[in-house]
Amino acid sequence: MTERGPLLAALEWQLAAGVDEVVGFEPTDRFAPPPEPRAPASPPSAPGAAPARARPAEAAPAAAKDTAAAADLDTLRARLLSFDGCALKKTATNTVFGEGPARARLMIVGEAPGADEDRQGRPFVGPSGRLLERMLAAIGLSRDEVYIANTVYWRPPGNRTPSAEEVEACRPFISRQIALVAPEVLMLTGGAAAKTLLGTTEGIMRLRGRWRSLETSGGPVDVMPTFHPAFLLRSPARKRESWRDLLAVRARLESGRP
Ligand code: URA
Repeated sequence: MTERGPLLAALEWQLAAGVDEVVGFEPTDRFAPPPEPRAPASPPSAPGAAPARARPAEAAPAAAKDTAAAADLDTLRARLLSFDGCALKKTATNTVFGEGPARARLMIVGEAPGADEDRQGRPFVGPSGRLLERMLAAIGLSRDEVYIANTVYWRPPGNRTPSAEEVEACRPFISRQIALVAPEVLMLTGGAAAKTLLGTTEGIMRLRGRWRSLETSGGPVDVMPTFHPAFLLRSPARKRESWRDLLAVRARLESGRP
C-alpha cells in the first residue's frame, strides 16, 4: 500500500507552486523532446489545405508567412487551430481566438486566457471580462460591437505570465487579426499587450492614457494603452485613470463618425 504522507506532501507542494487544475488523468512528460518528424505518409498538401505543423524554433517565421496569406478571420482561426509552434497549447483545454465583428471600430487586446476562457474557448469571459463589459457599457458600447482578442491563445498553466518565446510564437496571429479587423481604435489592456504590440519596454503606468500609432499591413491604427481589468479588480482606485482613457477612446470614435 502507498504511503499517504509523501503523496500529500507532493500535492501540497504543487498547490503552493500555483497548480490549480488537473488537466488529465494520465501523467504526461511535458519536457520530453518532441518526436522526430516522420516522412509524410501522404502526398504534399493540395492548395488551400491546412499548413504543415512547425517545430517551435521555426514556428514564428513559418507562422508569419502563413498568417499573412490568411485573407479573412475564419482562415486565420483555422491556421491557428493547426499551429503547433507554442508549447502552451499542450496544457490548454481550448484555443481562445479573438471574437467580435470582423470590421469592429474598436478592438481590445488582452494578455492571455485565464481559467474561464480556457474552459469556454472565448476571450474575456471571467471576472476580468465582466468588468471589461461594464467599462464598455460606460462609454455606450456593448461587447457585441467590439472585437476582443489576446496576444497568446492558450492559458499559461497557473495563469503565469507568458514567456517571451510564447509571445513571439503567437505574435503573427495577433498582428494579422489587427490588420484584418482594421479597427479605428485599438485598446491594449495591460503591460503585456502594450509591450508586445508597441515594441517598448516601458511599463503600463507610463504608457497608459497616451495615444500611439501602430503600423499594420492594413495601414496605421490609433492605439490607446490602458490598465488591464484584472489589475483594476485588484486596485479599484486606478479606475479613475482608466475612465479617462475610456473617455478618450469614446471621443476618438465619435470624432471619426461620418
Ligand atoms: N485576461 C486576459 O488578458 N485575457 C482574457 O481573455 C482573460 C483574462
